[in-house]
Amino acid sequence: MNGTRPFEFSIVSGHVVDSIIRSNLAQVIDIIAETYLAHSASLTVNPTSVFLRFPEQPDARIIALPAHIGGREPISGLKWIASYPNNIERNMPRASAVLLLNDAETGYPFACLESSIVSAARTAASATLAARTLIRDRRNLKRIAFIGAGVIARYIADFLIGTHWSKSEVAIYDLNSGYSLQLVDHFVASGWSDTSIVSTAEAAVRDAQMVIFATTARSPYLLDPALFAQTDLILHISLRDLAPEVLLSANNILDDVDHCLTAETSPHLTERFSGNREFVTGTLADVLNGRIVLNDQRPTIFSPFGLGVLDVALGRFAYEQAQSSGRVVSVDDFFFERARWSRENYLRVNESTC
Ligand SMILES: NC(=O)c1ccc[n+]([C@@H]2O[C@H](COP(=O)([O-])OP(=O)(O)OC[C@H]3O[C@@H](n4cnc5c(N)ncnc54)[C@H](O)[C@@H]3O)[C@@H](O)[C@H]2O)c1
Repeated sequence: MNGTRPFEFSIVSGHVVDSIIRSNLAQVIDIIAETYLAHSASLTVNPTSVFLRFPEQPDARIIALPAHIGGREPISGLKWIASYPNNIERNMPRASAVLLLNDAETGYPFACLESSIVSAARTAASATLAARTLIRDRRNLKRIAFIGAGVIARYIADFLIGTHWSKSEVAIYDLNSGYSLQLVDHFVASGWSDTSIVSTAEAAVRDAQMVIFATTARSPYLLDPALFAQTDLILHISLRDLAPEVLLSANNILDDVDHCLTAETSPHLTERFSGNREFVTGTLADVLNGRIVLNDQRPTIFSPFGLGVLDVALGRFAYEQAQSSGRVVSVDDFFFERARWSRENYLRVNESTC
């Protein structure tokens, strides 16, 4: 059992999740690294996500990500995450989510967490881990470019700043200059004063050694590999910004190869374009395990599909911290029928037939 009493069910609010994650950024990155390694060692089950789409709202979707982590302390769970891009026009976050955690022995769900924060934090932690692992020489990192200045970009900024990444120049481009300005203000308020808006994606990328894509682009719009002549690492979090030609001239590191080569991502388009998977260099776990060597004449592109096992791993951490500090909301009678057969069953039948 998961350490809770049987039939216990708790809710963990976004406020609690946020404070736990923000006070443990380094540990969150370690949890993500451990989970990638467990996934690579086949200690996880991470089925294909299910996409619920709507004919009347083609941009919107709700995705179910079921996942299981095995090993000594097994656990299962499900992230149910909605993406409504038009929300941002009302200054609402695009994504909203809940995460259910299930006991591995009985299958009973025991917690429900606000999970847009778990999801954004695991994404930013994975990007920060990739930056730490894949960048060739941090001393040469003079300029970072952000393309897309939404919630995920803000979380990546917070993880870089919060884990004491050395300051550099930051160039920001978003289709909406108001959103760019909000991210500039966020950096400047955190002491990264050499941060500015640029007017095109090309201008942002030029001279940047690390480029972070966190847009909602649905198909590639940067087609020329020469744009990345100065680039060491591309964190391709939004997955659909780069043309196959760009990927074919780079080292390509994914989180999970089968997952990533689906859903019209740039790696998926590249597989179709080239007719094979030879452009895939390996996974981040392969690099962490020292199983592959990168070609240092090429930029490296990290394209993470985003695995449900990361949400379950980080959700478990947030739940355990919340529970041990008395910050969960327990719903004592959530599960009503606690025995398969009991005297209460008969009494209820009698009451209802009186
Ligand atoms: N790979 C993963 O694990 C993972 C996890 C979470 C989110 N994501 C992806 O990250 C992306 C960003 O998420 P978010 O919550 O920050 O979204 P958001 O809507 O808050 O922000 C996206 C921003 O991108 C801008 N934008 C859209 N197209 C652009 C373009 N062509 N050039 C420049 N800017 C552009 C929008 O104006 C907006 O400000 C989404 O695509 C989401 O699916 C990936």
